[in-house]
Amino acid sequence: MAVDRIQNQMSDALEVLEQDGTVPDDIYSSNEIFELEQDRIFRRKWIPVGHESEIPDEGDYIVRYILEESFIVVRDEEGEVQVFANECCHQGRQVCHGEMGNASHFRCPYHGWTFDNTGELVGIPNLEDAYQGNIDKDEVGGLRQPRFDTYDGLVFICLSEETEPLEDFLGDFKFYLDYHLKRTSEGMELLGPHRVIKDTNWKIGVINNMSDHYHSLVTHRSFADVPSILPTDRLEEDEPRYHIHAGPGGLEMAETGSWFDIYPEEMHDSMREGLPEENLKLMEEKGYTPINGGFFPNFIINTTAVATPEGEDSAIGMTYVMMYRPISATQSEAYLWCAVEKNAPEKYKERAHQAFVGAFGSSGVADQDDAKNWMSVTKGSKGTTMDLRYDMQKETKPVDWDAPGTAYHSWFNEANARHFLRQYFEAMSGED
Ligand code: FES
Ligand SMILES: [Fe+2]
Repeated sequence: MAVDRIQNQMSDALEVLEQDGTVPDDIYSSNEIFELEQDRIFRRKWIPVGHESEIPDEGDYIVRYILEESFIVVRDEEGEVQVFANECCHQGRQVCHGEMGNASHFRCPYHGWTFDNTGELVGIPNLEDAYQGNIDKDEVGGLRQPRFDTYDGLVFICLSEETEPLEDFLGDFKFYLDYHLKRTSEGMELLGPHRVIKDTNWKIGVINNMSDHYHSLVTHRSFADVPSILPTDRLEEDEPRYHIHAGPGGLEMAETGSWFDIYPEEMHDSMREGLPEENLKLMEEKGYTPINGGFFPNFIINTTAVATPEGEDSAIGMTYVMMYRPISATQSEAYLWCAVEKNAPEKYKERAHQAFVGAFGSSGVADQDDAKNWMSVTKGSKGTTMDLRYDMQKETKPVDWDAPGTAYHSWFNEANARHFLRQYFEAMSGED
């Protein structure tokens, strides 16, 4: 059976990864493998779909997707986040066709069944004539609610009842996520999203962001050469780095001193207040700053200094968040946001957003440079299978580390790529 065959292949691939650090390139283009990924990964793992700050007011909603399935994420009249399958419980029509908006009710356009924003069925037209009163709204129930949960404002959905709770799934990676999304007591707000469909397999970008400092010097050379976009010294200086993996994620930290100097001074106190004590300690005492990272299966996050159109010395700190939604083996939809401190001055928010659009937005130079590579890797992986190398620093030993996870002290290292791929093959072979 095809499924058994692919599962066995994935199990063999896990062994080869452990031994040689290589993987077969058809994981980036095989339709059969993509079929199994839908079941083994996207229908089982916790999948991030958005952020609470995208629906600040009662009735605000966004529609988000796991694979082809759409979900309504809405803030109800009590201010609570609710998530529903976008599928009418009468005959299955999608009840919401906007991508975002504000609504107290969702009325199905087919026969008019109406649901409030807690998902409850509150109206059936012509109830007496149609059903002679023989239908009980409570018994019919309302919009189907999948398992969902939030962390640091991120909203996750899990389509399996058997998967562990979100907190356990995120495990030690929570510590690193907090750096990016728990600055200030009011939390972060996400601006966007920009949405782009790219001819790339969904895994490549996540692996790249979790692990690949190696590409920066070549791929991003062109924008480093334009000082109005990225401060040139970010690529020039021999900045010692740590590559850390923890829970489902991996990220890089630089020994560049405190982050705070890349933020306006008026924000420093509230950022200090917001960051958990242990995070602050590692940053202030050791001078470690988290940069790019992500977690399995499809999430990317990065805080870095980016120059704004105001000139070479105008670099400011900014965070971007990205999620990949697979459409097929060779095509994905990327959602990209700029994350800013909710209580930051409006002027800073504007500049951070400008910096994001210029560098990492859908038309930004950095995202374009990266996407070109990822699309080409996807194209190259079609046809005859060859092995791709993720074996950099494979024999290097981890160093002592005062924070969660396993850390390697090296300028370049693919330990985090192997960490992603290990989880991938374990899930695909049923060994997770
Ligand atoms: S399918 Fe929605 S009311 Fe009939
Ligand atoms: Fe890149």
